[in-house]
Amino acid sequence: MSDTPIKIALLSGSLRGESLNTKLVTAVAGEIERQDGVEIDLISLNKLDLPIYDQDLEEKEFPAGALELKRRLKESDGFLIGSPEYNGSISGALKNAIDWASRPRPDEEPLECFKGKGCGLLAASPGAIGGLRGLRHVRQILTQLQMVVIPQEFALSKAHEAFDDAGQIKDENARAMANNVGGSLVKMIRALKCDV
Ligand SMILES: Cc1cc2nc3c(=O)[nH]c(=O)nc-3n(C[C@H](O)[C@H](O)[C@H](O)COP(=O)(O)O)c2cc1C
Repeated sequence: MSDTPIKIALLSGSLRGESLNTKLVTAVAGEIERQDGVEIDLISLNKLDLPIYDQDLEEKEFPAGALELKRRLKESDGFLIGSPEYNGSISGALKNAIDWASRPRPDEEPLECFKGKGCGLLAASPGAIGGLRGLRHVRQILTQLQMVVIPQEFALSKAHEAFDDAGQIKDENARAMANNVGGSLVKMIRALKCDV
């Protein structure tokens, strides 16, 4: 089981180019990708054509960007998410992506993108709490979608000054806590893939 091949979808809930959350998930993904058998798929929401969810639109023509998002999430064994805290909660971009991905297509099982898969949560904010409050809401939503959201989570405070020029977290303790989320996620995903 220790090197069972797994694929992890990397998602940042921020669309902006200099996103601190994208930096954080990318830094942690760089660590876990060193492990044998771990493949990462960085899904950049700003590169997908994802309109605001609208049931009329869904019924008229399911958007190509949403289909691509669903395909890539279905191909993954779990997610690692960097979730910006907007007003104490989830960003609109991340919620919108989750809403599209939750919509069933005729050839699918219910909640096929999510059900039974592991998920690790990270947040980054210039603030003192690092976006931790928002993760409560993200956890609740993904649990509703039947994901196994691991208990380990990490919110990087003062994130605007936390990274070095190579994109690594400068503080050793913070780096270890962030990487612990990634390492624990890999173990959980492998455990979930075991036949029982
Ligand atoms: C609409 C909005 C609401 C925000 N609310 C919070 C908040 O509740 N807590 C917090 O720590 N930061 C808040 N921020 C600041 C974000 O944490 C900051 O902009 C952060 O850099 C966003 O993540 P990103 O760098 O990945 O884009 C908010 C920012 C915006 C645009």
